[in-house]
Amino acid sequence: MRSNLERAVDAAEFSCRPLAPVRPVPGLREDLLQGFARRPRSLPPKYFYDARGSQLFERICATPEYYPCRSEAALLAAHAAELVDLAQPRIVVELGSGNSRKTCHILSAAERLGGLREYWPLDVCREALEQAGQRLTRRYPWLRIRALVGDYLAGLGHLPATGERRLFLFLGGTIGNFSPQEARAFLTDLRACMGPEDFLLLGADRVKSAVVLEAAYNDAAGVTAAFNLNLLQVINRELQADFDPAGFCHRALYNRRRMQIEMLLVARRRQRVHVGALERAFEFARGEAILTEISRKFTRRTLTAMLEQAGFTVVRHIEGGEHLFSLVLARLS
Ligand code: SAH
Ligand code: TRP
Repeated sequence: MRSNLERAVDAAEFSCRPLAPVRPVPGLREDLLQGFARRPRSLPPKYFYDARGSQLFERICATPEYYPCRSEAALLAAHAAELVDLAQPRIVVELGSGNSRKTCHILSAAERLGGLREYWPLDVCREALEQAGQRLTRRYPWLRIRALVGDYLAGLGHLPATGERRLFLFLGGTIGNFSPQEARAFLTDLRACMGPEDFLLLGADRVKSAVVLEAAYNDAAGVTAAFNLNLLQVINRELQADFDPAGFCHRALYNRRRMQIEMLLVARRRQRVHVGALERAFEFARGEAILTEISRKFTRRTLTAMLEQAGFTVVRHIEGGEHLFSLVLARLS
């Protein structure tokens, strides 16, 4: 017989394991070769999040200009109880969980309501998962936390098997970092691993004035610039490259037609960069840009349409008084 104490320690246990990919995904090498062959040159956003990148993202969330994080947190604080009551999860799975700060609203609501047993945060950044795990095991000693290190674009088919009802969280407006086709593929993939009892809570940023949007991605203190430029350091380290971060500057522009922020690194001067691991050099003209991320903005309609096209039904759409940000609770159609 195991004592109550042993069981409690077991429940509070924090584990962090790799999530096996369902299909191979390209690594930085292949992504860089492909992305640099296109015009404009581009790179996928997941490489931002090394330990330093995750720290910088946390600081972006604290800048006065970056409203999405605060808007989403306020919606969660006001509506978590209602959302948890609708979804009744036994397990909360969070994709791209980062520091899991906003998740506390959901976990605390579930604590009051009862029924929740496990939290599975999934992220590419192990450091972020471990830090969040430490904080959360202290705060929710009854919760079993199974962190998963992996790439949600490599498929979700190898999530631990369970027959219990799950609530999937995809917060932070990260869905906006996908192109329409990528978002559709991602949601279809997610749908395939969900059961009829499971719910998805999706956070998405809304279309608004270009001034507000551009300021959110170009804070006066320069934290977002440092975050964007950190990508060059990641490439230098991982692929033995010699990018000079001082040779590039950060720019964020709102593209009205595509309803997206475009994050760029623009060459300040003509330069040649060597990438040791590829035994190749790349020329940059002065003013040439690398597209490092898009962040799409939605209307109530485009958000609903995206979910419906991927086979979801919207159960609840929360947008607050100012419609700055949306939280959508959905289930399979
Ligand atoms: N959800 C958090 C963090 C948002 S930032 C919030 O709302 O504050 C995006 C997060 O997704 C980062 O923690 C990053 O490490 C993670 N991420 C980015 N691309 C990923 C991928 N392909 N697979 C898994 N995690 C990814
Ligand atoms: N998912 C976040 C967003 O699109 C990511 C983000 C915020 C970001 N600020 C950034 C990415 C600056 C790159 C640079 O809002």
